[in-house]
Amino acid sequence: MHTQRLVDTVKALVAGDRGLLAMDESTPTCDRRFAKLGIPQTPDMRRAYRDMIVTTPRLGDCISGAILYDETIRQETKAGVPFAQALEKANIIPGVKVDAGAKPLAGHPDEQVTEGLDGLRDRLAEYAGMGARFAKWRAVITIGAEIPSRGCIEANAHALARYAALCQEAGIVPIVEPEVLMDGEHTLERCRAVTEETLHTVFDELHTQGVLLEGMLLKPNMVLPGLAAADQSNADDIASATIGCFLRTVPAAVPGIAFLSGGQSSELASIRLNAMNLAFKGRMPWALAFSFARAIQQPALEIWRGQAVNVVAAQKALFHRADCNRAARRGEYDAAADAPAAAPH
Ligand code: 13P
Repeated sequence: MHTQRLVDTVKALVAGDRGLLAMDESTPTCDRRFAKLGIPQTPDMRRAYRDMIVTTPRLGDCISGAILYDETIRQETKAGVPFAQALEKANIIPGVKVDAGAKPLAGHPDEQVTEGLDGLRDRLAEYAGMGARFAKWRAVITIGAEIPSRGCIEANAHALARYAALCQEAGIVPIVEPEVLMDGEHTLERCRAVTEETLHTVFDELHTQGVLLEGMLLKPNMVLPGLAAADQSNADDIASATIGCFLRTVPAAVPGIAFLSGGQSSELASIRLNAMNLAFKGRMPWALAFSFARAIQQPALEIWRGQAVNVVAAQKALFHRADCNRAARRGEYDAAADAPAAAPH
């Protein structure tokens, strides 16, 4: 195993106060977001959008690693530089999403399992050749009246562990992402219980498959009430539920935890990350960072709208969100100064 290389990459990803940027939307997801804003859904527009992101001045001050999609890692920036190399030049480690998406799980209505293990060894070798130093695989867990089932949690945990072992064999750091979705009316406590069972099962499988904990990152959901829940909880309760859950399930050998944003507003994602780093400073064995897509990109996408004249303003918005989350890693995010109208918590 490439132990030293894996450990060095993980350390670089979570060092200091930087975090990760997920820019690995699959083509259908990216197109859906473009369509909402009237942006043409073509390979060249997707390339132009990712070009806008990667060429944002000083992005590397806040972002340590960026996750690309298969299409993007094969494309070049407008200046003719392959995206992975453009990221390296900006002091950002290139990564790539390697799963093939969540599909219906047979025998388990309303539940999904993530596919993509077949042929993964060969694809990882190809991605490594293109410059990827870390990878991502997202599993999806849905909360409902009778779900998640053990069958769903175990199938996804097993796939995550097989993926992680294959990545480490290739010298690529696996980001292990079991996402418990926010959709639903469930309480904070129910999300905590489901997240706890999921993480417990995931780390059991990682152990069974011989995954080096020091050479991986965890990308979990925050423990949150359902989007349609009557009680939305405050940032301190969310911080206690989330970190309390991780302290019981995530081994201290894991160097870092980098949250997904999951559909929270940009401001709330920063407020909650900040609350956790503030309240639990010095009491967590892992770095507590971010690996947001929507919570960093959305304001910039809404400004960009596919127009070259909007690139500079969009890049400013992108940098701002990245910088806010960098402050949240230190517990120094000032929500009131950032967006007074959007900071009820
Ligand atoms: P969001 O931050 O938009 O949830 O995306 C993170 C991610 O990479 C999902 O796989």
